[in-house]
Amino acid sequence: MSNREPARAPIGMLDSGLGGLTVLKTAVRLLPFEDFNYLADFKHSPFGGRSKTELLGLLDDAVEKLLAQGIKALVLASNTATSAAAEVLRARLPIPVLGLEPALKPAVLAVPEGVILVLATELTLREEKFNRLYESFRARGGIVLKSCPGLVELIDSGQAGTPAIDAYLRSLFADLEPSAVRAVVLGCTHYVFVREAIMRHFGPEVLCWDGNEGVVRQLTRVLEENNLLAGAGRGGEIRFFSSDPGKLQFLEKQYGLLF
Ligand code: DGL
Repeated sequence: MSNREPARAPIGMLDSGLGGLTVLKTAVRLLPFEDFNYLADFKHSPFGGRSKTELLGLLDDAVEKLLAQGIKALVLASNTATSAAAEVLRARLPIPVLGLEPALKPAVLAVPEGVILVLATELTLREEKFNRLYESFRARGGIVLKSCPGLVELIDSGQAGTPAIDAYLRSLFADLEPSAVRAVVLGCTHYVFVREAIMRHFGPEVLCWDGNEGVVRQLTRVLEENNLLAGAGRGGEIRFFSSDPGKLQFLEKQYGLLF
């Protein structure tokens, strides 16, 4: 644990791989004076096909590593990790724990008719957290839920923006009439990497939501309430960590490519 003033401590961010970089990018834009420690748990990726109990156990090492770095708040930059672990970690850790959930509510409010497609991992769609949310909007009808097996692996192998993604999406969405889909909810931080390809598939009219701004605004509020905002002047440093050291350079490079 570092001795520096609590507000100057870094914010920890955790995902299985590249997905959370899209949250980090939003956070850096909205909180430019904060330092961030981003940990990609490539060793246990992908999270989405695991059981809740299994993932809870697997996250321990990554969480411990970030805590040992003296972080002042932990952002689970992963819908899947949030579904599996946010509640337990909130009860267990001495710092604020934030997480993401599929942005179904804003989509339902903005799009009264037509299909709303929710894309998330198997674990997220199966867990209670999402199902409570889904139940409250189910009466609307037309909400289609889809897990995307293999998509996280394609993105983590650097294939976002390649024809392999278009081919994958064509087969994933083969049962959907593109013009019927009015909105897409990106319920996994990785999928933000392929937002353009998804929008291309459904056409220029489709609306698209992710939870990134929401979680960063929530983070800002929580830091403010706990007197933990870094304040202007210094900061803005990002440090990257990977549970698979061989992928650290790749991780840093992919973040650079987001700009
Ligand atoms: N990026 C994550 C999420 O938001 C985890 C994906 C995975 O590892 O399966 O769900």
